[in-house]
Order: sequence, then C-alpha cells, then structure tokens
Amino acid sequence: MQIVVDLNRCQGYAQCVFLAPQVFELHGEEALMFTPTVPEDQHERVRRAAAACPVQAILVGEP
Ligand code: F3S
Repeated sequence: MQIVVDLNRCQGYAQCVFLAPQVFELHGEEALMFTPTVPEDQHERVRRAAAACPVQAILVGEP
C-alpha cells in the first residue's frame, strides 16, 4: 500500500496520527510527516485514518 497526503489540503486535524501513529507524525501544527510505503500490519489503521481525515487529505493506493 502506498499513500500520499495532499499537504495543501491537510489542516493538522491529527486524526491520522491518532489512528496510525507508526505511519503519521505531526511536527508542529501543519507539518505532517508520513511513511509513503505502508507496512502490511498498518494497512487497516491507515484505511481508518484516511476515512477519518475531515478534509480527505490522505490518498490510499492499493496494492
Ligand atoms: Fe492532516 Fe487529515 Fe491527518 S487534516 S493531520 S491528514 S487527519
């Protein structure tokens, strides 16, 4: 699974950090860092994070 976060859209809501802390990390209010290639054991968490982002900034590509 590959992910991209649209950083222009991201407003720092941090739902992703809360749901998948091993993949997303927030540095300051809006500087989101993420692991583009998501390990297998994090897929479900990342799907939930993508669904939970209030501005749909997380794009998930499969496989
Ligand atoms: Fe940004 Fe959405 Fe996460 S706004 S911090 S990608 S929940």
